[in-house]
Amino acid sequence: MSKLSTSALSRRSLLRIGGATAAAFALPRAVAAASTGLAEIGLHPSPGRAPLVGFPHPKTPVWAYNGTVPGPEIRVRQGERLRVRVDNGLAEETTVHWHGVRVPNAMDGVPHLTQKPIASGETFVYEFNAVDAGTFWYHPHQRGFEQVGRGLYGPLIIEEHEPLRVDRDLTWVLDDWRLTQSAAISDDFGNGHDVSHNGRVGNTVTINGQVPESFAVHSGERIRLRLINAANARIFGLDFADLAPVIVALDGQPVSPHAPDDEMIVIGPAMRADIVLDMTGRPGSHVTVVDRFYEGLEYRLVDLAYDNEPLRARASDWPMELPANLLAEPDLDAATRHEVVFNGGMMGQMMMGSNMGSMMDQMHSGKVWFINGEAATGHVMEPMLTLARGRSYVLAMANDTAWHHPIHLHGHSFRVISRNGQPTRHREWQDTVMMAPRERVEIALVADNPGDWMFHCHILEHMAAGMMGVIRVGPEETKT
Ligand code: C2O
Ligand code: CU
Repeated sequence: MSKLSTSALSRRSLLRIGGATAAAFALPRAVAAASTGLAEIGLHPSPGRAPLVGFPHPKTPVWAYNGTVPGPEIRVRQGERLRVRVDNGLAEETTVHWHGVRVPNAMDGVPHLTQKPIASGETFVYEFNAVDAGTFWYHPHQRGFEQVGRGLYGPLIIEEHEPLRVDRDLTWVLDDWRLTQSAAISDDFGNGHDVSHNGRVGNTVTINGQVPESFAVHSGERIRLRLINAANARIFGLDFADLAPVIVALDGQPVSPHAPDDEMIVIGPAMRADIVLDMTGRPGSHVTVVDRFYEGLEYRLVDLAYDNEPLRARASDWPMELPANLLAEPDLDAATRHEVVFNGGMMGQMMMGSNMGSMMDQMHSGKVWFINGEAATGHVMEPMLTLARGRSYVLAMANDTAWHHPIHLHGHSFRVISRNGQPTRHREWQDTVMMAPRERVEIALVADNPGDWMFHCHILEHMAAGMMGVIRVGPEETKT
């Protein structure tokens, strides 16, 4: 995986807590389903305060679901139905999007496109089936660059009927904040530099809403760690030192268990990775997890500190294979192919293409990122592609920019079938695929969920500045 050079990022010093040891960064949990198979919960987005950095820093004014960052962990079983009542306590409109969940279009939480935004003081009820087991998350789709950036997000875990055998099943929601010296959120959301470069990369990284110091583990234990990147723009590349993490799911979907390339778990904004971690160190020792995605900007994320009592003498050898979800398999021989080109941003070559004049015009109105020459100005637009329901498609995507882009499609999971012309080893199912600068990536899917679906970069500043389109899946199998 190629990396950004140091010069592309400004070096910022991380705020750290002196000596304090964060507890287990426990997440508040929302209730699970009753025997009826229906889980009902309420989400209340509103301003609040969160102890992100910890003593002696003051609490940080945030926007939060139910008063906590992250919002409550919603946990249901595969096949159950979820009903979520959202009461908007913010001073502005919002929505909730269920990232990666294959919901009916009307439940997708895209303002104006799939629903009227929820006005301040108003309520909206989302209801859908938990079709796929896996690690998902929720966040607003209204002014996401600020609403998510101020703390509105939470995990949604859909459990397998027979979960993997592990000692602990943990969720770590990673986020990156730009804080001032008084631990307040810097309010320069959407500034021109962030928008035209690599997005709002901050100076403080949290796990489950706290700057982590150390995390207690036991020798011999096996942990399923569900990593969720809720940051606006930061890409994580986690190095677990001498541990040997095994990736068992990506974006919620099972993948054949494998060691990460480059000994680093790469997670772009909105992406998830489920890993199995066997704690093979000695009692009383510790291991340091380092984020080394950006060259020259490596930092210690957290220490895993072994307790003095081992849990078992040797690592377990339980199976790691997760049961596949029921996703329609694209028929590559019959698939229709569409080219999708991403361009724009600083240091790009946008002025070379045939759409040059039109892109110049759009830039004058503040848009800097384009998909097939068009910059979105809102969520409602003419579809860039119309797909026939039930048919297979290959999207051949080209990143003609100098930046990474995690590209997300709503309503579907797709297989990542090639990178720069080379077939991928695991043909992984994803809902968000990372494209490195100049990279070519092919994805394949069956267009089986009818409706108008967003297709966008999940660096929220890029999205706000145009890198977004609509893909329509038609109601019937008519044309290709
Ligand atoms: Cu995570 Cu369009 O969303
Ligand atoms: Cu982008």
